[in-house]
Amino acid sequence: MACAAFLISGLFRGYVGAVCTRAAASKLTSSTSCHLTFTSIMKSKRKTDHLERTASVVRREVVAAAKVCGAVSESPSVKSLRLLVADKDFSFKAGQWIDFFIPGVSVVGGFSICSSPRLLEQERMIELAVKYTNHPPALWIHNKCTLDSEVAVRVGGEFFFDPQPTDAPRNLVLIAGGVGINPLLSILRYSADLHRDRANKGSGYEIGTIKLFYSAKNTSELLFKKNILNLVNEFPEKIACSLHVTKQTTQISAELKPYITEGRITEEEIKDHISKETLFYICGPPPMTDFFSKQLENNHVPKEHICFEKWW
Ligand SMILES: *[C@@H]1O[C@H](CO)[C@@H](O)[C@H](O)[C@H]1NC(C)=O
Repeated sequence: MACAAFLISGLFRGYVGAVCTRAAASKLTSSTSCHLTFTSIMKSKRKTDHLERTASVVRREVVAAAKVCGAVSESPSVKSLRLLVADKDFSFKAGQWIDFFIPGVSVVGGFSICSSPRLLEQERMIELAVKYTNHPPALWIHNKCTLDSEVAVRVGGEFFFDPQPTDAPRNLVLIAGGVGINPLLSILRYSADLHRDRANKGSGYEIGTIKLFYSAKNTSELLFKKNILNLVNEFPEKIACSLHVTKQTTQISAELKPYITEGRITEEEIKDHISKETLFYICGPPPMTDFFSKQLENNHVPKEHICFEKWW
């Protein structure tokens, strides 16, 4: 693919510092483990280019053609895309992002995939949800992209959940702020797929419990709330969520009310979920990500059980 032409970097506002390494993977039954090595580097690199910022992060080699097959408005500021990626060499793990190459746009985007790897296996589809910003790839997605638009994508990132069939069950705590929900929704959806597989086949990875903490400005900015609540209702013994709104100005509808807390996610709530079997995945704005990863460390959660990715 002649995508090198798009690899010229420019000013970037939008997304992503992958801040995990798989340093201690062998010590863990689940295959993702992360620690905080790059925190200071990432801080100094805020608002630089996605490719520059993630230069040292593992990427797959395949650059695959992708076609826009669906676009919907997910909230007043977020548009979601469905992309067909026919190339069978293209695959990803729940939680990873893609480099997003747009013909005629020199800046390369970096967006987390929010769908399950299973959707790719079955329908060759991936989904993204992109917030409106002045960043050229986000502007293109919001203003120029149409059905049948063609782009190219390449998978990268070390923030993912990819348990093997024989791994011991792990509980997951997923902590999301704003559009940081994207990779965590992929992990949540994939876990539900693994759970269905096991129910159908009687074998495969047995998921532990999953608790999602998700905070957004208000209920219209809580993305995918219907999808999330459907999973909670389908698997009440496995999946639970606590949805938070920080700047709600209107009344919360009766159907959402039981799931919503007004105010931020608190450290006490998170603390209640600490155990030896639990892996923590955090994705949100840098201050939030830093806050919860420090809190967990202070509460003696091993660094390799804390995985995070920052958005800005
Ligand atoms: C949430 O905030 C957005 C942006 O400020 C606004 O457009 C929307 O109407 C708000 N929604 C609710 C339910 O208050």
